[in-house]
Amino acid sequence: MGNRNDRYIVASIRENVGWIRLNRPEVLNALNLQLISELVAVLTEMDRDENVRCMVITGNEKAFAAGADIPEMAEASSVEMLIQDQLAEWDRLRKLTKPLIAAVSGYALGGGCELAMACDLIVASETAVFGQPEILLGVIPGAGGTQRLTRAVGKVRAMEMVLTGRSMTAREALQVGLINRVVPPELLEAEAMNLAKKIAQQPPVAVRLAKQAVLKAMDMTLENGLDYEQKLFYFLFSTEDQKEGMRAFVEKRKPRFQGK
Ligand code: HXC
Repeated sequence: MGNRNDRYIVASIRENVGWIRLNRPEVLNALNLQLISELVAVLTEMDRDENVRCMVITGNEKAFAAGADIPEMAEASSVEMLIQDQLAEWDRLRKLTKPLIAAVSGYALGGGCELAMACDLIVASETAVFGQPEILLGVIPGAGGTQRLTRAVGKVRAMEMVLTGRSMTAREALQVGLINRVVPPELLEAEAMNLAKKIAQQPPVAVRLAKQAVLKAMDMTLENGLDYEQKLFYFLFSTEDQKEGMRAFVEKRKPRFQGK
């Protein structure tokens, strides 16, 4: 990590995992413009750092993030929102090539739920609460809530959450496929770290293309998606890691992946 001087983010790298904590606890990690821009900057830096193979975003026990900062936007006009275009910053999350894990405890509401859903995997503690309460504020989700939630849990469940603002418990979120797993709060970080380390041990070029291919499944026809996957699959035969992985299997030994 370079010389970062973040106010609302604490970031570190261990065992090839970039660990990022949202750190604005006095307002339940409300996502103000500065926090989002610090978050995106550190993720972009980690995405380019070859020591990092996977990133984890987490909050504290009470909140992953309770949404966008309401006072910051309360009096803004449409034109101010448009010119400020804070969602352009959020869009940069989509360009990250390495897997991202959200480790969620407590509130993941509004932009907080959208941030978790922008990650590739979600691990939650039993205390986690997921919801899109924007309707109660006179707006709708703006950072992917109507789109990613619908794809994750289906139309009728997404409709109920978005139209009434009702949130989901971690158990419910697990049951409907919004998240990967639920653990007791004290095990959340260890669980997220284990998952991240498992991904970090895989060959990075294949991991990168695997992420890309799965994300493409969300917005391609099956035929186009299958074609896309095939090309990536053939491409991987030009990597040393493919040779190493398959030779290691044949020679009955563990592969040593080099990221080439
Ligand atoms: C700014 C927030 C905040 C938020 C909480 N706080 N959420 N500040 N923006 N989104 C602040 C409170 O004002 C309070 O500060 C402190 O955090 C603790 O919150 P409390 O309400 O006292 O805690 P509690 O009673 O436990 O209730 C927790 C809560 C509630 C249910 C999560 O805070 C809540 O409903 N928050 C708003 C959730 C929400 O509507 N999110 C969607 C935002 S819109 P003080 O100074 O009073 O102690 C959105 C759009 C995204 O996310 C679009 C993409 C950018």
